[in-house]
Amino acid sequence: MAKLWRCEICGDPYVGDKAPANCPFCGAKSKYMKEVREAKVDFDVVLNEKDKANAEHALQVEVSNAAFYFCAAKKTDDAEGKLLFKALGKVEAEHAAVWRKILKLEGVPQGNDTCHISNRENLEDSHARETRAIEFYRKAAAESENPRIRQIFNAFVEVETDHLMLSEERLK
Ligand SMILES: [Fe+2]
Ligand SMILES: [Fe+2]
Repeated sequence: MAKLWRCEICGDPYVGDKAPANCPFCGAKSKYMKEVREAKVDFDVVLNEKDKANAEHALQVEVSNAAFYFCAAKKTDDAEGKLLFKALGKVEAEHAAVWRKILKLEGVPQGNDTCHISNRENLEDSHARETRAIEFYRKAAAESENPRIRQIFNAFVEVETDHLMLSEERLK
């Protein structure tokens, strides 16, 4: 029987027999997927100065990484790589949308990052980007006293760690 699920991190709804292992939109782990009626989703958060600065930086990181991945999805010289980078671009764009909602902005700024032709160079770039994102999200989670902000930062640490594993696997 199909049910209606909702991701507590990005707020997006999903129809399926079972909760997916990861949110199909933002990649959050299944523990954040709840039946719609039980899902607690809150984007109306009062931010202190530190949280606001970290959310703004997070938005920039996600916009920049999404632009890089969409570039790589077009240009990388490997068929599987094109699909991998397309999938990652969509997830990072969703992360940017989460920060847009938290920051109550009208829209998401346009990223202008470039990428490489060589798939290996794109994988190395991805690895460096995800490493930086994880470090930043970890620090931002530790700095926050707001449970919702901490929840999002921690959920994204897990998602970006999955991304890091994907490049690591392919760079062996
Ligand atoms: Fe999600
Ligand atoms: Fe992300």
